[in-house]
Amino acid sequence: MSTADSKSRGFLGNFANVDQANPAELVGRLDTMHALEFFRSYKRETFALMQLGAAASAADIGCGTGEDARQMAELVGESGLVVGFDISEAMLKEARSRHDAATANLQFIQSPAHELKAASASFDAIRADRVLTHVPDTMAALREMVRVVKPGGRVVVSEPDMLGCWVNNAHHATSTRILQAIAHSCERPFAARELYHHFLDAGLVDVRLLLRPVALTDPQSADNILRFGAAIETMIEKGKLDAQEARSWLADFEERRRTGRFLGGATIFIVAGGKPAGEDR
Ligand SMILES: C[S@@+](CC[C@H](N)C(=O)[O-])C[C@H]1O[C@@H](n2cnc3c(N)ncnc32)[C@H](O)[C@@H]1O
Repeated sequence: MSTADSKSRGFLGNFANVDQANPAELVGRLDTMHALEFFRSYKRETFALMQLGAAASAADIGCGTGEDARQMAELVGESGLVVGFDISEAMLKEARSRHDAATANLQFIQSPAHELKAASASFDAIRADRVLTHVPDTMAALREMVRVVKPGGRVVVSEPDMLGCWVNNAHHATSTRILQAIAHSCERPFAARELYHHFLDAGLVDVRLLLRPVALTDPQSADNILRFGAAIETMIEKGKLDAQEARSWLADFEERRRTGRFLGGATIFIVAGGKPAGEDR
């Protein structure tokens, strides 16, 4: 599937271009994810890997609705500073309306990941969670993150392995095609698998890779996140899926929903590293 298809309505790839898609729907997807304990738990791990202490300065790239930046602001305390960067005006508007009144040490700035409005060596730690999958040039974004972090600072990136997402359905081959179409709607479906070596190529040290598997038994959450129906509709329109195959797959999905037999999952790749001390670039 070409990148042009990422503009198709309802696809996960719309996160690359929130302002031209349906921002309210995409905010809803993020809220679904934030409500799941699995997401909360790997996010807490990313905060720990950032080694955020009191009075630290930190950045969250592709901050979305700002929930993670808000938690980071609590971790660094009143004398610290957290900046959430995002390319989307609609996401930043949502983030500001949720958090501005409550948190003085939190700012939101509109910037694309490859061109952050921040001076070099500004932050003690920086992260991006489920963002680099949506950025056209992963390495350019990572190099920019390294630029704005201080020598000795921490860089943490987490991405789902999009091509490894799975669901249980009697029509396994159709599942594979639907999930591949969802993955390929994203700019960089392979981003998670490339991260570890990108960190080494960017000159980061003490690089660690952690894999965190997730399994969902709740079909509604899986559907809220991946929007199977919208993906299937677009595939049919583009002649990439036969209507009968789609009906059979959806019937099995509905049967599993009705009988409590849905299962699906993915693996989150978390990579953490440090900018070498004494290096200012
Ligand atoms: C899947 S959401 C993740 C949001 C947040 N990190 C979270 O975990 O809830 C992806 C976010 O990245 C932002 N984004 C997409 N492309 C971007 C880019 N090139 N530069 C900066 N932000 C970008 C989107 O606007 C969206 O808010």
